Amino acid sequence: MEEVNNKFVSIKDHVNGSPNESDFEIKTETISLSVRSKEVIVKNLYVSVDPYQLNRMKSHSSSQAAISFATAITPGCAIDTYGVGRVVASGRPDLAKDELVVGLLTWGEYTLVEEGRLLNKLDPMRLPLPLHVGALGFSGLSAYGGFFEICKPKKGESVFVSAASGSVGSLVGQYAKLFGCRVIGCAGTQQKVDLLKEKLGFDDAFNYKDETNLKSALKRYFPEGIDIYFDNVGGEMLEAAVANMNLFGRVAVCGAISEYTGNQKRAALEMLDVVYKRITIQGFLAADYIERYADFISTTTDLLRSSKMQALCDISHGVESVPCAFIGLFRGDNIGKKIVQIADE
Ligand SMILES: NC(=O)c1ccc[n+]([C@@H]2O[C@H](COP(=O)([O-])OP(=O)(O)OC[C@H]3O[C@@H](n4cnc5c(N)ncnc54)[C@H](OP(=O)(O)O)[C@@H]3O)[C@@H](O)[C@H]2O)c1
Repeated sequence: MEEVNNKFVSIKDHVNGSPNESDFEIKTETISLSVRSKEVIVKNLYVSVDPYQLNRMKSHSSSQAAISFATAITPGCAIDTYGVGRVVASGRPDLAKDELVVGLLTWGEYTLVEEGRLLNKLDPMRLPLPLHVGALGFSGLSAYGGFFEICKPKKGESVFVSAASGSVGSLVGQYAKLFGCRVIGCAGTQQKVDLLKEKLGFDDAFNYKDETNLKSALKRYFPEGIDIYFDNVGGEMLEAAVANMNLFGRVAVCGAISEYTGNQKRAALEMLDVVYKRITIQGFLAADYIERYADFISTTTDLLRSSKMQALCDISHGVESVPCAFIGLFRGDNIGKKIVQIADE
């Protein structure tokens, strides 16, 4: 019976603070290539590295009971993630050997995809495969759904985006600009700030780490107030944005990365601002917009093909690089979508 050796990443124990390399180990197993009906074995090519995985690694997080893809990660076991791969063996009639697929893979070299788990044939549409992990995957759907459905933009409105050079933020800013909004982003280095202004077309950008008072910084950048805040970070930035919102402002809460490690202040909003300025604050998950998927893909592929939109990918190589790539998200190491290329295409 043919077999492959599979190296994969796991956590040694639950991770309840900032992640460190020592929290992870690379394990090896043997996978038999004889599959049962409806099972598929995939050779992983590109896998996604995302901040929400930290909440899955904790002993407890309210996110873990919310939706199946956010369930707790068991120490010692493989860690599932979105990615693109190639079929090695298939027990599904709709998927043949060597076909490209996209879906729930693992931080490893191979994934045994059991019946019922998300895995679809991928037509790359002549676009690079990493884009199908990021801009055309859940990052893109989060940006598109969150911005258009929750922020309900009107042309000319002022939009603020945090973690603006990251995977979701960089796309939100560009959707907003192309729609006709005035867009300002914040990021954690001067290099990222320059990129937002020079390459992604943001009207302005600033390094939040250089600011001693975020409320007055936002007052300076938005003298006429913020209509829309696309929040990726939570914490003090959310407090500062709410303090600067206009009447009937909308806040799309995509994530709260500054709060995931437990090292920084949690947002304590001025609720009277929320009441008197009639601000809408809504959290969401990319999966909420799955019915808009076709619309999202056709709009975004057109924008990418015509170079009206840039999809930034930050790629590391090899399964051993996954822990460092993941930890780097919380240090601001990445520019654009963090992906690990596991094998050559
Ligand atoms: N709701 C959903 O369905 C959904 C889907 C995808 C992602 N998300 C959320 O969206 C957010 C962005 O995710 P992403 O995948 O696009 O990640 P990303 O922005 O590509 O990477 C994370 C970035 O966050 C910034 N960051 C890290 N720690 C920070 C801190 N303490 N304060 C402020 N900024 C910090 C860093 O950039 P700087 O250099 O700018 O600090 C870092 O590069 C996350 O909160 C994530 O959980 C939600």
